[in-house]
Amino acid sequence: MRTQVGIVGAGPAGLLLAQLLQLQGVQSVVLEARDRDYVQRRVRAGVLEHGTVETFREAGVGVRMDAEGLAHDGTILRFGLQSHRIDFRELTGRSIVVYGQQEVVKDLIAARLDVGGELLFEVADVTLHDLDTARPRIDFVHEGVARSVECDFVIGADGFHGVSRGYLAGARTYERSYPFAWLGILAEAPPSSHELIYARHRNGFALHSMRSPTITRMYLQVRADEDISGWPDDRIWAELHTRLADDAGFTLTEGTLLDKGITPMRSFVCDRMQQGRLFIAGDAAHIVLPTGAKGMNLAVADVRLLSRALGGYYADHRTDLLDGYTELALRRVWRATHFSWWMTAMLHVSPHDDAFGDQLSLAQLDYVASSRAMATSLAENYTGLPYPKGWSY
Ligand code: FAD
Ligand code: DHB
Repeated sequence: MRTQVGIVGAGPAGLLLAQLLQLQGVQSVVLEARDRDYVQRRVRAGVLEHGTVETFREAGVGVRMDAEGLAHDGTILRFGLQSHRIDFRELTGRSIVVYGQQEVVKDLIAARLDVGGELLFEVADVTLHDLDTARPRIDFVHEGVARSVECDFVIGADGFHGVSRGYLAGARTYERSYPFAWLGILAEAPPSSHELIYARHRNGFALHSMRSPTITRMYLQVRADEDISGWPDDRIWAELHTRLADDAGFTLTEGTLLDKGITPMRSFVCDRMQQGRLFIAGDAAHIVLPTGAKGMNLAVADVRLLSRALGGYYADHRTDLLDGYTELALRRVWRATHFSWWMTAMLHVSPHDDAFGDQLSLAQLDYVASSRAMATSLAENYTGLPYPKGWSY
């Protein structure tokens, strides 16, 4: 096989890049390790920043998102049994849309197949070759047959556990792990609040989110080494009731659990996102803490930059945009990394019985709830800082 851009991974990053390249007349091949059903069902992120929403519309994949996504103009911070609303629209003029990552992935796969774009599922043994030449190559196995795709560029959009990052020689990585994890559930129950609730209770953090008018998505802070078997449904509901309670009579509607799982908490940044003809994007290059929902939005931001840089190469033989990719992308990555860390520190409870830390978190929450300047800072980061000049593809 021969193509212009070879993309490893059919998550939001790889699929969106293929779509944005297609719109510029650039051909690509997307290789995915899992099957289609698996990637379309994987329950992950749900909050789309303002700019992510605009990007999907501009990419021609916003129709179902606009029809079924839930537009939110604010969010609730809950602590000390009281609720404080952060009004995104009033503070920043921007808002967010709640629309599940698996729905985004479904829309992008449908768009790809519609134009007859190459997208191979269940590929194995992906290896990258000749990345420092003008003819890099991806070798892989598909349906038991060893195959190769020769390209001009290779894009590693294969997530945190993918193979691409390993081909960046001498990259420095920054990493931090945390003494807690998130237990996430999807319930067949109408949401109990119109907006998301980020709650800090002395038992730990809880988040009330949603996917549709009939499906609720919620998370609980649990120990890092927690086993899901220790959390039967009754215990999960009891803890959600306790942590989400307020003094205004909040009631949580229960329902059948459709999915539950534990997500580890980790921050990770690779300080190089390119080498020769290899570029990496999304979770392959960085993982942010989930508090603040930045993961998928950062993947989209990386891909906006990459598609513009690759488009510039094919349209005008420009290489400056490709050369500057890592530097531009990392500025946004570190901003989001800090924001996610800040939200996490403010809303979680240290398992080490750190009474001093508790008071610092509460003081910070009180400041956000009472200061327009702090609330605006939260709102502009949450809805997504505007893409700097030169980020449009
Ligand atoms: P991915 O979505 O990981 O896609 C990478 C793709 O590459 C996958 O389909 C994978 O199967 C494929 N792949 C991997 N290795 C290979 C290989 N060798 N060959 C071919 N294909 C390969 N973010 C939030 O904002 N909020 C959340 O609540 C949230 N929850 C999450 C829960 C979990 C369990 C995880 C893992 C992540 C969560 N995230 C969340 C983060 C968010 O989902 C990611 O930031 C987002 O998926 C990044 O998109 P991506 O395309 O870069 O990577
Ligand atoms: C969701 C996930 C997040 O990490 C977050 O901060 C808000 C919402 C969600 O899955 O709906």
